[in-house]
Amino acid sequence: MSKVSIIGVGAVGTSCAYCLAQKGLVNEIVLLDIKPGTAEGRALDMRQAAAIQRFDTNVKGVTNDYAATAGSNIVVITSGLSRKPGMSRSDLINANAAIVTHVVERVATYSPNAILLMVSNPLDVLCYCAHLVSHFPKNRVMGMSGLLDIARYKSFISEKLNVSTKDIHALILGGHGNTMVPMPRYTTIGGIPLRQWMDKKTIDEVIDRTRMGGDELINLLGTSAWHAAGAAICQMIEAIVCDQKRVFPVCAYLDGEYGLHDIFIGVPAVLGANGVEKVIELELDQEDSDRFYESEKVVRENVELLKQEMERL
Ligand code: 2OP
Repeated sequence: MSKVSIIGVGAVGTSCAYCLAQKGLVNEIVLLDIKPGTAEGRALDMRQAAAIQRFDTNVKGVTNDYAATAGSNIVVITSGLSRKPGMSRSDLINANAAIVTHVVERVATYSPNAILLMVSNPLDVLCYCAHLVSHFPKNRVMGMSGLLDIARYKSFISEKLNVSTKDIHALILGGHGNTMVPMPRYTTIGGIPLRQWMDKKTIDEVIDRTRMGGDELINLLGTSAWHAAGAAICQMIEAIVCDQKRVFPVCAYLDGEYGLHDIFIGVPAVLGANGVEKVIELELDQEDSDRFYESEKVVRENVELLKQEMERL
């Protein structure tokens, strides 16, 4: 059984914690937040829900006490500012790089063998930041974005076709931003290729809505979404703690795959007890390839901004 710590219990951290607690996959969840009483209160509320929902997971909350997270197997980092209407994820680089650096230094000290699961935005860039600060090997630093983006893509397909999301299999590549690359060529419904279900115009509508999926929610809610993000993180944790070898879109470090080096970006990968166990290289047609490398260019430009900011810190 495992110990999972969640740093930052805003809406996403809380949703992930509750999903994880209910599944009973780990025996201890530590919630940590900087706002006094918040993590303690969230944990207390979940322990009371346990009596109704019938789970035994031990959920504890602390204010800024990293010693309580010591020896975690997985640390989820959601800390940082979230987007408001009109902001892009990149607008958060400066503020969130400083926050993530502070958090990862402490997490790496107390849980030197942990797997880091990054959630803060801009996701691809802050995975890179966590990798630099922690000095953890590439398999133990990853980000959650593709599962969330693909969940949005599946839900839009399901709405258009009136079929269950359960039977939709799909892939997505690229950064967690408006240049992400949902891949109709690798999308099937009940094993039947998407292009036999939908014409190109409808597929393009679904892709555009997926790319703007985060913005659509921010415009409705005034802040970023949480239920799907929390469920996606929980699914990645399950794959790791149960050593399931699931194939998920993961923000992973590339070391030659797709001809790229020294970058975190969304790719399909095998997730198991060792974290990112294998990055899967897809055959890309010209259109997908152009889009993927365009997305890579945007991530790299933001990584350059991150490096400038980290020199200043
Ligand atoms: C989203 O896409 C918050 O980046 C997150 O909703």
